[in-house]
Amino acid sequence: MKAAIIGAGNMGGAIARGLAKGHYIKADEIFVSNPSNGKLETLKKEFPAIHTTNSNKEAASDADIIIAAVKPWKMEEVLKPLRLHHPQILASVAAGLTFENLAHYVDPEMTIFRVIPNTAISLGASMTLVAARNASDDQTNLIMNIFNEMGMAMLIEEKQFAAATSLTSCGIAYVLKYVQAAMQAGVELGIRPHDAMKMVAQTVEGAAQLLLQNEGTHPALEIEKVTTPGGITIKGLNELEHSGFTSAVIKAIKASM
Ligand SMILES: NC(=O)c1ccc[n+]([C@@H]2O[C@H](COP(=O)([O-])OP(=O)(O)OC[C@H]3O[C@@H](n4cnc5c(N)ncnc54)[C@H](OP(=O)(O)O)[C@@H]3O)[C@@H](O)[C@H]2O)c1
Repeated sequence: MKAAIIGAGNMGGAIARGLAKGHYIKADEIFVSNPSNGKLETLKKEFPAIHTTNSNKEAASDADIIIAAVKPWKMEEVLKPLRLHHPQILASVAAGLTFENLAHYVDPEMTIFRVIPNTAISLGASMTLVAARNASDDQTNLIMNIFNEMGMAMLIEEKQFAAATSLTSCGIAYVLKYVQAAMQAGVELGIRPHDAMKMVAQTVEGAAQLLLQNEGTHPALEIEKVTTPGGITIKGLNELEHSGFTSAVIKAIKASM
């Protein structure tokens, strides 16, 4: 199994590192191409077995899986000369490029996956969205297994991509905005910024784990556990609602579709 990663930027670099650490493709079967050398050299220092090149053709020729990780507007000029074809598998991480767009750049009969990780992929903690076209169950399982090793992957229909991307890729920024706002309050109340950041970040992590590790739970159930009648938490929760918190979050997610 040879895997090619075209583009060694934030996404391509993180995917190359995740693949090399994972169990599905050996490091010496990973080929990464990028026009400039700096990112390739850094990658090579970390994982000497990975092959690096300035030639997309060299990386993609005979590759079983080609992961295209260049900016969306570069995808056409990068993919067309490679003449990718069945039975190769293309995985595109380009935000906003549909299967319909991508099929114009490669053999339209070939297997294509759209894959949208978020920036936490650099820590192996991504929420990765996957949609499949012309894919067998085995091919889909392989892609899901690969990206499940870099966090959590979820297979969805392409028509859900815009909404789901707003929840996951943009969602990282919204969660961080909550962290920043809570820090601001903490600092006003006398807590050092760095301490406040850790307190809030770990609290967000804990809240997420309560949901992820308990299949049968729901935010409302977990909120009820910390909300004593007449207590301090309900005062804060109601203040959030008076200030339009739920409505603001819904509007933000719909605005970024
Ligand atoms: N960042 C995110 O949160 C995120 C999330 C999901 C999906 N995505 C998608 O991921 C893709 C890459 O985004 P990114 O944030 O990783 O961008 P990036 O850091 O700018 O990486 C793009 C890489 O592509 C390289 N490149 C440029 N022209 C090339 C060519 N002709 N052939 C091969 N490589 C080429 C660039 O090399 P040079 O620097 O040497 O020019 C750069 O290393 C985009 O399509 C984006 O929509 C990003």
